[in-house]
Amino acid sequence: MTPTSTLDLHESRPVISGKGRPTVYCIDQFHPQAVEHARTLFNVVLPSDSEFKDWRINATAILMKSSWMRAEDIASCPNLIAIGKQGVGIDKIDAKACAERSIKVINTPGANARAVAELVLALAMSVAREIRSITQRQLDHPVNKETCSGLTLYKKKIGVLGMGNIGRTVAEIFRGAFDAEVIAYDPFLPCPADSWAHIPHERAATVEEVYTKCDILTIYVPLTTET
Ligand SMILES: NC(=O)c1ccc[n+]([C@@H]2O[C@H](COP(=O)([O-])OP(=O)(O)OC[C@H]3O[C@@H](n4cnc5c(N)ncnc54)[C@H](O)[C@@H]3O)[C@@H](O)[C@H]2O)c1
Repeated sequence: MTPTSTLDLHESRPVISGKGRPTVYCIDQFHPQAVEHARTLFNVVLPSDSEFKDWRINATAILMKSSWMRAEDIASCPNLIAIGKQGVGIDKIDAKACAERSIKVINTPGANARAVAELVLALAMSVAREIRSITQRQLDHPVNKETCSGLTLYKKKIGVLGMGNIGRTVAEIFRGAFDAEVIAYDPFLPCPADSWAHIPHERAATVEEVYTKCDILTIYVPLTTET
């Protein structure tokens, strides 16, 4: 994990167990290897553990993936000082409520980017070649191949909104696989942007420019009121 910010729980948290290690509550299900790693650092309490039932009262630190931590959830955790969130998106966590209590939020930028980008390739191929609808028809009766069409992706123009970790990786994959033309829009990255200067691309000045030029549109921006 590569957190954007770090918090030394050993220094800043009050609850120390018998083993002298901080306690973290995993409120979502994590990969067993992640739990194993966490156990080398913390006393880990899982939802299956009996002491988990009082996590809201007792937790000073939680690890989460897909749960929500709304303002009322934050309020129900009087001792919380840190939230570890797997993944980059923190829109399910009420930032204002955390800031008011100086609760640190630690995410993992880039950790899922490759996996997401490869799934994008799979889904784009699936849509372009109508794999789902053809498979569905095939379940009922043999499909005449003359009734199957679809789009090849070779040299198609891919419009990427948001050239962060995922957008950049998707652009690289589509360049490599299809010699695709990349039209990129990301107003927050410097121009030229060093992190993706190696990807041949056209930089769009507006979202509308991307819409009018691209064959495939793909979006990787944080969820904000603007987006
Ligand atoms: N649903 C899922 O399974 C899943 C998995 C991983 C990531 N995500 C979401 O995808 C998003 C992108 O992930 P990432 O790892 O690439 O994040 P990232 O932070 O590396 O990149 C996000 C990029 O979006 C740009 N951006 C912000 N606002 C924009 C706007 N209005 N228009 C254009 N660009 C804008 C930023 O400048 C940044 O470069 C995250 O917010 C995350 O929540 C979802």
